[in-house]
Amino acid sequence: MEYNITVLRGDGIGPEVIDQAVLVLNTLGARQGITFNFREEMMGGCAIDAYGEPLPLSTLETCKKSDAVLLGAVGGPKWEGLPGDKTPEAGLLGIRSGLGLYANLRPAIIYDELKEASPLKNSVIKDNIDILVVRELTGGIYFGDRGRLNRGTNTEEAYDTEKYSVAEIERIARLAFKAAYGRRGIVTSVDKANVLESSKLWREVVIRVSKEYPEIRLKHLYVDNASMQLIRDPHQFDVIVTSNLFGDILSDEASMITGSIGMLPSASVGGGTLGLYEPIHGSAPDIAGQDIANPIATILSAAMMLRYSFNQNAAAELVESAVKKVLAKGYRTKDISSEGFKTVGTKEMGKLIASEIKAV
Ligand code: IPM
Ligand code: MG
Repeated sequence: MEYNITVLRGDGIGPEVIDQAVLVLNTLGARQGITFNFREEMMGGCAIDAYGEPLPLSTLETCKKSDAVLLGAVGGPKWEGLPGDKTPEAGLLGIRSGLGLYANLRPAIIYDELKEASPLKNSVIKDNIDILVVRELTGGIYFGDRGRLNRGTNTEEAYDTEKYSVAEIERIARLAFKAAYGRRGIVTSVDKANVLESSKLWREVVIRVSKEYPEIRLKHLYVDNASMQLIRDPHQFDVIVTSNLFGDILSDEASMITGSIGMLPSASVGGGTLGLYEPIHGSAPDIAGQDIANPIATILSAAMMLRYSFNQNAAAELVESAVKKVLAKGYRTKDISSEGFKTVGTKEMGKLIASEIKAV
């Protein structure tokens, strides 16, 4: 098999973590007889520096033609204060929407090996935690009408609009219900239907769609309550389906339950097999270039790519079990390390995971 992957290394620690994911994929490919063709393009701050815009058309075109996109992270202080549509983040939103990737899957899994890294008490995380946040990614307040009125005067106002159509809610709800099969079969839909009209529609549509999936149990929570419940009793959650903004916030919260945002991968998918795979963490400019960033989230994102875009489930499991083995042997990057562990750098962590794959 042969796959074409567009690589967007991005800014900050992006290039460092991407390099390790590419090493792991190449090692896996050599072992499994899979060829990965990597083509690098620019997006984010690096693209602003090189081309004057965060998402050059050529980057988007290359992504569209490839089988999958692997992304590091974008942004940094250097590009702060640019107009809204010229920021590195605007490039990220442009690529998600330009590729029609309406669903963002963010698994928050607590590894047994990493339980001690969770800030929650052992009594709260007694069993394994395995939550999948399904975040709507190309609608809502991120893409609604926004603007400023009376610019520059002391009566200045700014607004952003949350808007969802039935079709947008239906497709993300279906994806969440389907994802619940083969898991614990519970979907929690998170909204703010006690206040927002868009949330009232969200809830109505999710209830209607749920009738197509009678085996799946549907629960509803208001977002404020959901954010509390995630900390109080994370085990009650299986699949969480929610809007773009609520999903952004709740997935960061869910990630912290697992101990480190440096561990969590994500997949952004749409109607076809083309997907965008990126760690949920940011570009962390404060630690860039020091070989201390945790590459595991990006390596696990590559595993999600194998599973969702290439349907290579066995290969994905190989990568995931290599990660677990390295953790079980006591190796940790700085963010998840503590006394008694062997602290290693970004490159060393990548090498260790690659050698576990070779050793199988
Ligand atoms: C994320 C990030 C992005 C988002 C930012 C960088 C635009 O926080 O992927 O969660 O809000 O979607
Ligand atoms: Mg976020």
